[in-house]
Amino acid sequence: MGKAAPSKPPGLFRRIEELQEDVPWGSFLDAGTGTNSIGWVASLLTDRWTAVSGSEAHAIQVRDAAEPVRRPQDRIVVGNWADPKLLVGECYDTVLADYLLGAVEGFAPYFQSRLFTRLRPLVRSRLYVVGLEPYIAVEPVDAPGRLVWEIGRWRDACLLLAGERPYREYPAEWTVAHLEAAGFRIVAAHRYAIRYKERFVNSQIDMCVPRLAALPDRGLAEALAAHGESLRRAALESIAREGCLRHGHDYLLAAEPVRSPAPDR
Ligand SMILES: C[S@@+](CC[C@H](N)C(=O)[O-])C[C@H]1O[C@@H](n2cnc3c(N)ncnc32)[C@H](O)[C@@H]1O
Repeated sequence: MGKAAPSKPPGLFRRIEELQEDVPWGSFLDAGTGTNSIGWVASLLTDRWTAVSGSEAHAIQVRDAAEPVRRPQDRIVVGNWADPKLLVGECYDTVLADYLLGAVEGFAPYFQSRLFTRLRPLVRSRLYVVGLEPYIAVEPVDAPGRLVWEIGRWRDACLLLAGERPYREYPAEWTVAHLEAAGFRIVAAHRYAIRYKERFVNSQIDMCVPRLAALPDRGLAEALAAHGESLRRAALESIAREGCLRHGHDYLLAAEPVRSPAPDR
């Protein structure tokens, strides 16, 4: 993924609720927060929640979204999982890593292989991981897939030229292997086909407009901007015809700690 998560497949949070069955949510950690996940987390019957973001700007959006329902015991924390002091000694009944793994590249590059070991002491009962199968590496053969692939590659090229680090997604198999190595066992795994809509197309292209406007090489910037607009036109025409661009998968993993949990703090 690049800088924005796709529209969440309808029912993904509902699926997490089903997997949780009647077990209380207890204390809840939203380990990579955003307006989507906090909207859901804040609607649950939790004892308390903590929402972590690596970015101050993201945390402000989350604060604004959660403000009407935030209780005194609910916290929003700006920090980096690469920092060993972040939430050190704390433990939560339920932890959510919702599109966190792909975003780590932007905040702590090369830390991905240590992320679940880092989160492990914070998980008392259940960890839910939501991720996006990488869709940039392999050229799709179908036209809708190709459009999503081209938009993703164009977006990442713009971000790199602007001096930023695009997100880097990891396959479900990689995530399962690293969860197991970190001391979790997988209790459920699901894949969801993605249907990209106008919001995805416009958000990805609009996000690059100010970055291109700041590029010193104006010829390059104008050529890239024109290419982005031609991708936008083609993608929106295809969505108008077909209803969406079908391409790739999200995945949901539910995992539990194998060894005994740490005491609550
Ligand atoms: C793509 S957003 C998550 C989407 C979010 N769950 C939502 O509802 O839309 C990724 C989140 O993870 C955070 N994040 C990424 N890497 C991080 C790191 N190393 N430490 C702390 N937070 C991180 C980002 O700051 C951001 O809040």
